[in-house]
Amino acid sequence: MNTPITVLGFAGSLRKNSCNKALLRVAKELMPQDAKLETFDLEGIPPFNQDLEDKMPERAKEFKAKIREADAILIATPEYNYSIPGVLKNAIDWASRPYGDNSFEGKPVAIMGASGGRLGTARAQYHLRQTFVCLNMHPINRPEVFVDQAGEKIDKDGKLIDEPTRKIIRELLENLIVWTRRLGKK
Ligand SMILES: Cc1cc2nc3c(=O)[nH]c(=O)nc-3n(C[C@H](O)[C@H](O)[C@H](O)COP(=O)(O)O)c2cc1C
Repeated sequence: MNTPITVLGFAGSLRKNSCNKALLRVAKELMPQDAKLETFDLEGIPPFNQDLEDKMPERAKEFKAKIREADAILIATPEYNYSIPGVLKNAIDWASRPYGDNSFEGKPVAIMGASGGRLGTARAQYHLRQTFVCLNMHPINRPEVFVDQAGEKIDKDGKLIDEPTRKIIRELLENLIVWTRRLGKK
């Protein structure tokens, strides 16, 4: 039996009915047997202030500790104005600091995203991938999970009702676990 892998998932949305939070709920269900998904809500992480990076606010510290403990990371990002939402970038910035103490260092990561538009967060995801270079993370390239026209795929109760989307999320998670083992993280 393989040692279980812990994945930390978070969504770049604070919205209660967020479709990206809905994707994370589905991911919890679809996680391979030898892995578990914990989630973290970015609510309460204050705006980044470099003056405070050596005495971080409690919620930012908590987030950073969760990242550090995790074997792999899963991010569900909305697209805001063709890029990643400020709350997501803000949280990433806290957890990457102070210089030399980046909690994302060397971690495997997978991305998915849902939006009301036709490109399903593609532009935001490529911006996020650029950030991974600086963070020295190891993203998986495929599949790319772009959930477009999310209002038709996620019902009013926040349930994913689109079978092809479930299938591609399952594939993403399987690939993330294989990738995490290949990188020797577990
Ligand atoms: C400030 C803002 C900017 C947005 N910009 C985009 C965009 O560039 N592309 C897009 O597809 N959707 C855009 N949207 C719509 C979001 O895709 C939609 O609100 C989505 O539901 C957000 O994700 P969430 O449900 O997880 O909160 C934008 C929404 C907001 C609030």
